[in-house]
Amino acid sequence: MALMQWTDELQVDISRFDEQHKRLIALVNEVHDAMLTGKGRAIVGDVLDELIDYTERHFSLEESTLTKHAFPECAAHHAEHQQLLATARELQEKHKAGSLAVTVEVLEFLKLWVTEHIKKCDKKYSAYLRERGES
Ligand SMILES: [Fe+2]
Ligand SMILES: [Fe+2]
Repeated sequence: MALMQWTDELQVDISRFDEQHKRLIALVNEVHDAMLTGKGRAIVGDVLDELIDYTERHFSLEESTLTKHAFPECAAHHAEHQQLLATARELQEKHKAGSLAVTVEVLEFLKLWVTEHIKKCDKKYSAYLRERGES
């Protein structure tokens, strides 16, 4: 069973960002599947790399859109992105060095990371961006 499911609660009503969030959830589920099926460290590491790369691209697209429309909470939003990525890279480094096994706890962290950020931060830009013609 997939670790994460898409729900309406996660919808931000900006279609490209909703699509990207769905892809992020799929990638967290892929890391989970790789772990559950006993895939080796290298494979789990590759899927984590893909998740981090995709997250970086998604964050930079959100940031450029928020900057373009002078979103008032831009700085706070960018700072939270930076913090999330720093934590994810740290996990990845530990995983690569062999000092961290990707466990259910690590995945629960990733799951929370994705859902809390979308619900608490991303949802704040919905109405603001829609009022400025984004959809
Ligand atoms: Fe997002
Ligand atoms: Fe965000």
